[in-house]
Amino acid sequence: MTNVVVIGSQWGDEGKGKIVDWLSERADIVVRFQGGHNAGHTLVIDGTSYKLSLLPSGVVRPGKMAVIGNGVVIDPHALIAEIEKLAGQGVTITPDNLRIADNATLILSLHRELDGIREDAAVSSNSGIKIGTTRRGIGPAYEDKVGRRAIRVMDLADPETLSAKVDRLLAHHNALRRGLGESEISHAKIMDELTSVADRVLPFRDTVWLMLDKERRRGARILFEGAQGSLLDIDHGTYPFVTSSNTVAGQAAAGSGMGPGSLGYVLGITKAYTTRVGEGPFPTELHDGIGQFLGERGHEFGTVTGRKRRCGWFDAALVRQSVATNGITGIALTKLDVLDGLDELKICVGYRLDGQEIDHLPASQGQQARVEPIYVTLEGWKESTVGARKWADLPAQAIKYVRQVEELIGAPVALLSTSPERDDTILVTDPFED
Ligand code: GDP
Ligand code: IMO
Ligand code: MG
Repeated sequence: MTNVVVIGSQWGDEGKGKIVDWLSERADIVVRFQGGHNAGHTLVIDGTSYKLSLLPSGVVRPGKMAVIGNGVVIDPHALIAEIEKLAGQGVTITPDNLRIADNATLILSLHRELDGIREDAAVSSNSGIKIGTTRRGIGPAYEDKVGRRAIRVMDLADPETLSAKVDRLLAHHNALRRGLGESEISHAKIMDELTSVADRVLPFRDTVWLMLDKERRRGARILFEGAQGSLLDIDHGTYPFVTSSNTVAGQAAAGSGMGPGSLGYVLGITKAYTTRVGEGPFPTELHDGIGQFLGERGHEFGTVTGRKRRCGWFDAALVRQSVATNGITGIALTKLDVLDGLDELKICVGYRLDGQEIDHLPASQGQQARVEPIYVTLEGWKESTVGARKWADLPAQAIKYVRQVEELIGAPVALLSTSPERDDTILVTDPFED
């Protein structure tokens, strides 16, 4: 018996939410450890769709404890809105099934505004780089965290400390805003914004590292839920076109307050092709009819922003890199059904860069933009795999594709997903029992 860390092995939207929901049946506690409401996870349970951004995907199952760890950045207004939306769908969130780390960082309206101002400025003046962020204030909030001036959850319980911290925060932000030609923000505005939510947020606060340590000793099964994907990691991703947190599995320890020895099985959620939302390099991107086919068949539109996701062939070189940077034990291969009906399928096995063949994506921004994919071509299949629940239901060519993926990335398939529905999932190896 072990704990399981779920992470995305590509650029996000691999289907982590569906798999976390499915696996949470076997878990006692589900923990988010990085990111914020930039994440968007769609779960489909008996035809009903649930969209989660900040709350761990285990929260829809009765009797599970959901935890938001210290590594997460929390917009308290977005948190309350999500809790209310779920209540409307019959999912009740109380301190009995949700705990929030008292040392987690808060996202304020000024972070959201700054995120938008920077993105707009990058477009209109060409002065900066447009990242294509979700405009949720994620980057600016993490900047304040590492700048040691962030407001944290526990500060909501101490108005005097909060007031002094808001003063310090505004000294920084108002200087920044003056430089950008924006109006200054008053102390009263931020205090109002925070005091108006304190009573709604504080009941969930907990000393999460301590609670998790007790639960671990008691033998509880813990499922860690990553957001975004490994290629969006602040260190290992396609910098600067990344998010502002470490998204790799190692962050599950630091972002929850557990030791790395407690992490256990690392399950890399991997889409059977590749998508990306936002700007940045994407070597296997398809601008043709096949790219369009994947987008339409896969419903590749962002859960958070509704933006169209860019689509392309499976990039085994990238996922092989993610297997290494996360220490992936096995993968959950998702959306295999989207490939049904294609005559042939390509898989990228490496790149050509300035006349040389390389087997990984280099770290340099210029080189990432220049690499050209090297492909192997496989025969497609005509049969439908939608909703397949056993290997025996898969056509021979689909099995060949899966075997080829395993071999090229150097990790086995533990789970296979064949539709958005919770139970359209094939179990090969139980990560909790491996
Ligand atoms: P996440 O951010 O990694 O949780 O992924 P998203 O929820 O943003 O995007 C994945 C989308 O694919 C969602 O709409 C899911 O309902 C859907 N999905 C998940 N697994 C499968 C699958 O195996 N087949 C198909 N067709 N859709 C899937
Ligand atoms: P899930 O958890 C896909 C992308 C944004 C942008 C970059 C930085 O649903 O897989 P940010 O707002 O984080 O500063 O934006 O990261 N991005 C995601 N792309 N899935 C996500 O989450 C993402 N979260 C952020 O599009 O390119
Ligand atoms: Mg998503």
